[in-house]
Amino acid sequence: MAGVFLSFEGIDGSGKSTQARLLAEALRARGLTVTLTREPGGSAGAEEIRRLVLEGAADRWSTETELLLFTAARRDHLEKTIRPALARGEVVICDRFADSSRIYQGLTRGDLRATVDALHSLMIGVEPDLTFLIDIDPSLGLRRAIARAGSEMRFEGMGLGFLEKARAGFLALATAAPQRFRIIDGTGAAEDVAQAVTAAALAHLP
Ligand code: TYD
Repeated sequence: MAGVFLSFEGIDGSGKSTQARLLAEALRARGLTVTLTREPGGSAGAEEIRRLVLEGAADRWSTETELLLFTAARRDHLEKTIRPALARGEVVICDRFADSSRIYQGLTRGDLRATVDALHSLMIGVEPDLTFLIDIDPSLGLRRAIARAGSEMRFEGMGLGFLEKARAGFLALATAAPQRFRIIDGTGAAEDVAQAVTAAALAHLP
């Protein structure tokens, strides 16, 4: 593929969505063509699945069903949005990708890591070229997540222990794949975090 595939990961309230947007702006300002997208969602069909999976009662789906829905959404996103943009030579910036399934369905909301990996190799089979892990203290993440609570509440309100486990899981993924991951401290002002992200991205881009 001609393009470059970048993803952002982090616990709820880490600020990764803001950072994904700021990186898109910084790269566009340098003349690059960027597709900014997100998961779950990022294509018409996947956005419909997003509503199914993020809204409604907390016990609406089993973890297994949830994993299938996230994987179906990812497959559609890959077919309709990510692969075409990469084929056009664009920079794709994705707010969450398969690492989120590894952590949420594989570790914190469920214990399905082997199934997550099997489904991934069967149905998805690609990793980003570079993944930014926006790392913050879970108590800060919780405060931020509560402050902007909206309708997509199935996954929020799960407490500090949940966020701590997710953070540790993300850091372990990053340690296991140091060529792909860049761990960015997300504690400071958004502009400062964005500078660190942009520098790491530019160092990787051709
Ligand atoms: P998102 O909209 O990115 O929430 P946030 O803005 O808090 O990052 O994602 C919504 C939720 O979906 C988030 O709590 C993580 C969860 N999720 C999974 O459990 N598995 C997945 O594969 C993905 C992509 C997201």
